[in-house]
Amino acid sequence: MSLKVVRNILDLRKETTVWRAEGLTSAVVPTMGALHDGHITLVREGLKQADRVLATIFVNPKQFAAHEDLGRYPRTEAADVARLEEAGAHLVFAPEPQEIYPPGFATSVVLTGPAKAGLEDKFRPDFFNGVATIVAKLFAQSQADFAMFGEKDYQQLMVVTRMACDLDLPIKVIGVPTVREESGLALSSRNAYLSKTEHHKAAALHQKLVNAARKIRAGQRPSRATGVARRSLALLGFRVDYVAARNAETLAQPKGPDEPLRLLAAAWLGNTRLIDNIAV
Ligand code: PAF
Repeated sequence: MSLKVVRNILDLRKETTVWRAEGLTSAVVPTMGALHDGHITLVREGLKQADRVLATIFVNPKQFAAHEDLGRYPRTEAADVARLEEAGAHLVFAPEPQEIYPPGFATSVVLTGPAKAGLEDKFRPDFFNGVATIVAKLFAQSQADFAMFGEKDYQQLMVVTRMACDLDLPIKVIGVPTVREESGLALSSRNAYLSKTEHHKAAALHQKLVNAARKIRAGQRPSRATGVARRSLALLGFRVDYVAARNAETLAQPKGPDEPLRLLAAAWLGNTRLIDNIAV
């Protein structure tokens, strides 16, 4: 049987209402399509948590600034649905923009805390409002018990976790470790933009974070270790937006020696912006 794709909220609700009536739990995997093994891992982890897995495919215009890559973002729905079916997902919700943002739509989620940490938000000021708005809508539309998010977009994971808690949304947000190529490069739909040479070079982003984490664990000041990482990435030809050590939950600047830290980085190679993060 081929995997069912629903395009409107009414049809989605029909399916998820049946699941609920049967006493089945569900996990939602929000995606923008162009699926890779990282997304498939989210589906597999969702299947461990819940009886049913719903994947959503929606390239959310509200999280792209005017100069960003909305128009050229890879759209590969047929291949995505085939991969989701193979992975064992039970349903796909792939709406058109007007289903999500009908004429007159006038609401968005306003965020503080981890969304204003001076990381992604500094370089993409509209991004998290767009993400939080679509994610809140997908949570309400799906009525899922669990939501699966990759740690690769770590600030996004913290923002969504905080939002679900603050708005008392009846869903548990689960972070899933980043899936990497053998070189260490984090899987991302945007890796498709990299040339062969850039792809080879891109693994250095992860490597420099690993080196910095090692130095911090050995006692080096986080600001020193991240400064070195920034400079060595620049020498390799990256245009670095940030390399930062932050509190692993609030993403605030570290205050003392004993708090859990996360290293986060964003840098450009040519026209491609890469992000990555690791625990210290
Ligand atoms: O991480 C993504 O792919 C997107 O930001 C998300 C969570 C699907 C919201 O559009």
